[in-house]
Amino acid sequence: MGDLGALPAHLAPRGAGVLASGELTIQGIGVEELAERFGTPLFVYDEDDIRARVHDLAHAIAPVQITYASKAFSAVAMAKVVASEGLWWDAASLGELEAAVRGGVPPERIIVHGNNKSFEELERAASYSVGRIVVDAIEDLDRLDALGVRQIPLWLRVAPGIEAHTHAFVRTGQVDSKFGLPIVDGTAERAYRRAVEAGFTVTGVHAHIGSQIFDLAPFGELVHRLSTLRHRWAVPELCVGGGLGVPYLAQERAPTLSEWGSYVREALRGTSADPADVFVEPGRAIVASSCITLYRVGVIKRIPGVRIYVAVDGGMSDNPRPVLYGSGYMAVAASRLYAAHDTAMRVVGKHCESGDVLVDEALLPSDLSVGELIATPVTGAYGYSMGSNYNRLPRPAVVMIRGGRAREVVRREQLDDLFRLEVGA
Ligand SMILES: Cc1ncc(COP(=O)(O)O)c(C=O)c1O
Repeated sequence: MGDLGALPAHLAPRGAGVLASGELTIQGIGVEELAERFGTPLFVYDEDDIRARVHDLAHAIAPVQITYASKAFSAVAMAKVVASEGLWWDAASLGELEAAVRGGVPPERIIVHGNNKSFEELERAASYSVGRIVVDAIEDLDRLDALGVRQIPLWLRVAPGIEAHTHAFVRTGQVDSKFGLPIVDGTAERAYRRAVEAGFTVTGVHAHIGSQIFDLAPFGELVHRLSTLRHRWAVPELCVGGGLGVPYLAQERAPTLSEWGSYVREALRGTSADPADVFVEPGRAIVASSCITLYRVGVIKRIPGVRIYVAVDGGMSDNPRPVLYGSGYMAVAASRLYAAHDTAMRVVGKHCESGDVLVDEALLPSDLSVGELIATPVTGAYGYSMGSNYNRLPRPAVVMIRGGRAREVVRREQLDDLFRLEVGA
C-alpha cells in the first residue's frame, strides 16, 4: 500500500493505492471509474481487506470462536463472506437473521440477540434452529416458554458493571443500561435459576461492554468477571462481546484486531475456560476501515472570514454517526491525493438540517472544485446499516471489490423504491 498522499495508510483499506496522477485506487480500480460505473454517493468495500482482518483475528485468537456482529453492516453479501470464512453471525432483529440465512450462514452459527425480542423473532429463530439465543431480559424466557421453545441453547447476557470509556450512547456494560441482566442486584442469578428450573439449556454467559473502545484493560476485567459467573453456573461457554475501536482520524490509533485477539486469548489463560468454548463478537473492527465512501461535490460556498462549506450529494442519511455521536471523520480529494490538503472546509450533506455535517473541519485542496470526488475513509461500520431515507434521498449503492473485480452488492435505490410502501401512491 505505501504512501497514499493525503490519505493516511492506517485509515485506508489494504487494497488502496494511488496512481501517478494522485487518483485513489482500490485493488487497482480508480475511484473515477467506480463513480462513473456505480454513481455517487457510493460505499466501496475492499472485500479482501475484510477477509484479511478476519484472518488476522483468527490467527491471534484461535481456537476462540469469532462471531461477526452484523449490525455494523448487514448485507447478504457480507453474510456470504461470513459463511465462507466460517464465522458466526450475530443477529439482533428479524432482518439481520434473514440476511444471514439468505447469505448462507449455517443456522447453527447464528446467535440471536436483542433487548426486546418479539414472539415473531423468537419463533423464526426457533424455526431455523439457530445456534444460540441470548437472553437479555426475563421476558425472553417468558416468551420462549410460551412458544414451547426448549431445544435451543441459551446464553444469559449480563450487565457486568464495567464502564468502558466511550461515548455514552454506545456504552453498554454498566448497571444503568437497557441491556443485559444486572449482576449486582441478583437479576442475573434469578434468571439463571428460572431458566434451569423451567428446563432450558443454558450453555453460556455473555456480555458486551460497549463500542469504539480503545483501551484493552476493560476486556481483561470482563474475561475475569464472566469466568467467575461461568464457574458459578457451571456452564461451558463465555462470550466477551465486541467493542474494539478503530481510528477514524489521522492522529488516532487503536489496538489492531491481532492485538485485541492476543490480549483476550492471554486473559483467558488465567481462567478455567476452554478457549474453544469462548466467543468474541466484533462488528466495527472487522468492516469499518475496509470501506470508503465516495461523494461528488455539488456546491462550494465560501463565506469570507467565516468558513468554506463543501456540499456533497449524500450526508446524514448515509452516515449518521457525526450527527448521532459527534464522530470525527476526515475527507480527501479522491482524485488528487498528492495535492496539498491545507485548507479547512466543512463537508456537509444535502439534507435540510444545519447539523447535517459529515466532516466538521476537513483539510482539502484550496482549489477544490464542483464536480470533484471526495472520499471519506473508515465508513464501513454503522454507516449503510444506520442510514435512512431522510428527505427521501435514495440509499446509495454498495460495491465490493474482490480479486481486482468490483461488483454491486446492494443496488442504489431508485425513485420508485421510495414509494413502494405507500398505499395508493
Ligand atoms: C451484543 C453486541 N455484540 C457486539 C456488538 C458489536 O460491537 P462493535 O461493532 O463495537 O464491535 C454490539 C454493538 O452494539 C452488540 O450490541
